[in-house]
Amino acid sequence: MKFKPANNIQDLQYFGEFGGVNPSISDSSTYTFLSAKTMLDTFEGNSDGCYLYSRHTSPSNLYLGEALAAMEGTETANVAATGMGAITPAILQLCNAGDHIVSSRTIYGGTYAFLKNFTPKLNINTTFVDITKLEVVEAAITKNTKVIFCEAMSNPLLEIADIKGLAALAKKHNLKLLVDNTFTPLLISPAQLGADVVLHSLTKFINGSSDTMGGVICGTQDFINELRSVNDGASMLLGASMDSFRSASILKNLRTLHIRMKQHSKNAEFLAKKFQKDGLKTVYPGLTSHPSYELFKSMMNTEYGFGGMLTIDVGSIDKANELMELMQHKNLGYLAVSLGFYKTLFSAPGTSTSSEISEEEQKEMGLTDGLIRFSIGLDDDIERTYQMMNACMKEVGVL
Ligand SMILES: Cc1ncc(COP(=O)(O)O)c(C=O)c1O
Repeated sequence: MKFKPANNIQDLQYFGEFGGVNPSISDSSTYTFLSAKTMLDTFEGNSDGCYLYSRHTSPSNLYLGEALAAMEGTETANVAATGMGAITPAILQLCNAGDHIVSSRTIYGGTYAFLKNFTPKLNINTTFVDITKLEVVEAAITKNTKVIFCEAMSNPLLEIADIKGLAALAKKHNLKLLVDNTFTPLLISPAQLGADVVLHSLTKFINGSSDTMGGVICGTQDFINELRSVNDGASMLLGASMDSFRSASILKNLRTLHIRMKQHSKNAEFLAKKFQKDGLKTVYPGLTSHPSYELFKSMMNTEYGFGGMLTIDVGSIDKANELMELMQHKNLGYLAVSLGFYKTLFSAPGTSTSSEISEEEQKEMGLTDGLIRFSIGLDDDIERTYQMMNACMKEVGVL
């Protein structure tokens, strides 16, 4: 049967404590036990349905985690305070000193900085590769490799990972495949294609209102139990736990994700086609000119489209800045990092979200100075938006 992530979310029925249509928010950091023995069992991880302390887990966080696990089709999930608060413990739980990671070289700058500058302090080293070339990925695997890390659609170059191919490699070499699915929630279901762990920054499309941070690790019950272990669980001990009020509000926003993703995709595809026709160097996975158009089509849950992210290259950082400032002035969106907001957001990744990557490496991976990354908003009249953007482009001379 076809995997339908939005149906899985819809089918979760939660009642509040007093019959409310939303689950009650657990407004407590600690929980009582009727017997001391249950407290001991819970510390040892043996007592289902009992809560210990909200850094470990809370009822509200479990509701959200369950919904995200349903969306990805994994056994369970653990939510975190931020996307990085999910990515870093997932990696540290799987890797010990002396271990090795093979990672896509085009990933979010924070994840790149963590793997490039931070984990080497723990003697965990990473080889960065062109993730679109499976033979290059395989050649980078050593006897110490434990993890292959990638983004389903990469930040900011919108490269597409062949998740089935990578999963086969991971299986062959007994590695874990970790996929950050932040750019493509609902569109791509990495666990259904063979990924072992699926990660998200909830800060982006999933929450969708740019009012909070959040993250999630979706995986097997065993892996999530390990992360939550009071003795050596990276999520429990590093402590990036989400607050219950925030998980309650993200859960409510998750309920409309399918509608929002369809509109983001519809608008982004419309603009990408227009921009390309106008002669702008445009990257969008829904354009036949995208090198992984067919691959994306073969992986996607078609009803949600090709996503809300696109890039154009306007030649120089000065032109990029001039255009973005003008578009903000005309109220077409905000010159801001991040993505998944109702309004369009744009930034130049080379000097912002990917600035952790050295200039030389940026050049090697094709991240140019004049690149503008757009997270396209939910605009109702996208033709009007296009006409106004086109006028801005003409005014600053990129068209
Ligand atoms: C693809 C991707 N993964 C992870 C993150 C980190 O998430 P957060 O900012 O919620 O920690 C980001 C943030 O921009 C991102 O774009």
